[in-house]
Amino acid sequence: MTRRIRFNAFDMNCVAHQSPGLWRHPEDQSHRYKELSYWTELAALLEKGRFDGLFIADVLGTYDVYGGTDVAALRQGAQIPVADPLLLVSAMAAVTRHLGFGITTGTGFEHPYPFARRLSTLDHLTGGRVGWNVVTGYLPSAARNFGADDQLDHDDRYDQADEYLEVLYKLWEGSWEDDAVVRDAAAGVYVDPGKVHHIGHSGRHFTVPGIHLSEPSPQRTPVIYQAGASPRGVRFAAENAEAIFVAAPSKRVLAQTVSKIRDALEAAGRDRYAARVYALSTIVTAETDDAARHKHEEYLSYASIEGGLVFMSGWMGIDLSRYDLDDPIGQVESNAIQSAVAAFQEFDDDGREWTVRDIGRWAGIGGIGPVFVGSGETVADRLQEWVADTDVDGFNLAYAVTPGTFEDIVRHVVPVLTERGAYPQEYVPGTLRNALFEAGDRLPPEHRGARYRLRGPGSTVLPEEVARPSAVLADT
Ligand SMILES: Cc1cc2nc3c(=O)[nH]c(=O)nc-3n(C[C@H](O)[C@H](O)[C@H](O)COP(=O)(O)O)c2cc1C
Repeated sequence: MTRRIRFNAFDMNCVAHQSPGLWRHPEDQSHRYKELSYWTELAALLEKGRFDGLFIADVLGTYDVYGGTDVAALRQGAQIPVADPLLLVSAMAAVTRHLGFGITTGTGFEHPYPFARRLSTLDHLTGGRVGWNVVTGYLPSAARNFGADDQLDHDDRYDQADEYLEVLYKLWEGSWEDDAVVRDAAAGVYVDPGKVHHIGHSGRHFTVPGIHLSEPSPQRTPVIYQAGASPRGVRFAAENAEAIFVAAPSKRVLAQTVSKIRDALEAAGRDRYAARVYALSTIVTAETDDAARHKHEEYLSYASIEGGLVFMSGWMGIDLSRYDLDDPIGQVESNAIQSAVAAFQEFDDDGREWTVRDIGRWAGIGGIGPVFVGSGETVADRLQEWVADTDVDGFNLAYAVTPGTFEDIVRHVVPVLTERGAYPQEYVPGTLRNALFEAGDRLPPEHRGARYRLRGPGSTVLPEEVARPSAVLADT
């Protein structure tokens, strides 16, 4: 049977998101990121192409690892200036009916209590089309501006994220019963207080005794995305994630990563395919292979190696300005994205060792992921080959220029994949979770979040605790 391929679009509330220097290209519109119409037009285009969703990255710091200063990042416009991702979603939801929204926020920067309400609000306003990309951060500059000397150690950040999610699951899944809002005009009762439960959370990082402020939204817990692929990151993903975003520069590394993720899902008591895995990549396509190659060369002439090294230094947590451009990165320890370092310590698909110059060039278009160049047919062949060889579910598509890259994909690649039966002809209606798994709007019972339900499949909350509105919920 032809395997289905899924598309997400990958963007950020800034210019030239993963393609440093390409903001100089005359067709690039990313400087319009401050205009609502940029986002509403993009959302409508992606829905026309039947993308699963728009995935919006975010950081709360600058890329000042390269050279130990933010000068190069500012000059390059390397994800700075950068604006808030959440505030974009309502407007895009208003012009679409199906498109999902994967929004990135970090677990180290905002207390879970107000955050829970903001995501519930968006889940209501979008009719259940919200996903949350749970990130633990990688830029020390972000931590410094929250008053710390540095970010927590890599694995400690994930431990803290575990508790952050515990608070959120309790609020989203375990505070309000489905029928708590009665709106009984005759009795003068809007909410039945017996059906709203205090979560009683007291942990190492957070104390949240009370109730969730929002009533249950269509999905309750938004679809959980995750994007770290270190051993600790994979363990975290296996417990929590429903969509996993991976970045690998070669097919070999991607195949290893996907297989590790699927094994970890099983080890966590879930199905191997309980999370959709999307690989970062960029597509440069046109009417013919020649026209696409020409377009790619033209894009490359605008790409910035320095910008690429600014990004890579931030992602790896290593100052690449200190290296000779012809040296490999060698055996280094990272407190940033460990999977990004590991990917470039492996050989590439041609068996060559990556030098710093190669890494900077590679990151000039589309960040860590590969760039597929060719006609719609050629690109469709490559995508199908990568899916078959790596077991990935789909692609998180970055742009070289926006919206041009996405327009080209919708025009040239989507029809070919659809014709081949590898791409959906229409959306599955309903919430994002239902569109992804066709198994309803709420978390499945094997998911960690289901344990915090008051009752029903997956719940580990004891009946006597549910009976008390102010019950302190068990979290075992
Ligand atoms: C493809 C990809 C995209 C990511 N996007 C973001 C992001 O937008 N914001 C962020 O703070 N962290 C982002 N991260 C970081 C990770 O989610 C993770 O929290 C951290 O870097 C640790 O990753 P590791 O487990 O691979 O070491 C991303 C990582 C990858 C691999």
